[in-house]
Amino acid sequence: MAIGIMSALHEELSGMLQAMPDEQCQNVGDRAYWCGHWQGHDVVAVLSRVGKVAAATTATALIERFGVDRIVFTGVAGGLGSGVRVGDVVIADSFVQHDMDASPLFPRHEVPLYGRSMFDTDANLSGQLLDAAQTVLADLGRHVQAQSIVDYALKGARCHAGLVATGDRFVSSRAESQALQLELPTALAVEMEGAAVAQVCHDYGVPFGALRTISDRADDEAHTDFVRFVSEVASHYSVAVLSQWLRQLT
Ligand code: ADE
Repeated sequence: MAIGIMSALHEELSGMLQAMPDEQCQNVGDRAYWCGHWQGHDVVAVLSRVGKVAAATTATALIERFGVDRIVFTGVAGGLGSGVRVGDVVIADSFVQHDMDASPLFPRHEVPLYGRSMFDTDANLSGQLLDAAQTVLADLGRHVQAQSIVDYALKGARCHAGLVATGDRFVSSRAESQALQLELPTALAVEMEGAAVAQVCHDYGVPFGALRTISDRADDEAHTDFVRFVSEVASHYSVAVLSQWLRQLT
């Protein structure tokens, strides 16, 4: 069975496709699913596009049409937790939808009729991703050749594991990120897809893991050089960490 790998942006996916020598494209529901091999493993890589709905339909097709036995999401996120800095890596251990609010019928953030607001990632898969990310960050210069990475290596990029908040909003003001920190004090980072994939994987009983490079601090400067960061820095992290993870997989 294959491993599903998802990203939201072209810049994030393109480096991974270059690492797959033999990928074949299959189109389903206006998405291109790239089936091939990476480090000897069967892989289906796909661009989900941005936001919860796009991510949920893509994850569903990966499971239903391509029969993947686990899904890994890789991309960028805004840092929320103190000490979570641009260039760091966050491995999600659980997800919450910060914009889910069916109150007063259900408690704030609870997904109605699930009786829960948090959806956990798979502990085993997340542990493997954390190991791989730590290995890469411990020697960034060896794993990633791109010149732009050197700065982050010098600044001592770190790896974190914990809660990630998801919502259909690019968080780009200090006021908004402070409000999120108050609402969800343990959230390390914010992005726009993870909780949707976590919910689909929960529904199907498919293990899920997520790796996010911190591209911004979800504040007034969040949009500055965002795309450049993704293509020059984050995409290299994704390739390096996932390559390392796949190498270690038996
Ligand atoms: N992905 C990367 N940065 C983000 C932010 N500030 N808000 C939402 N998603 C993001």
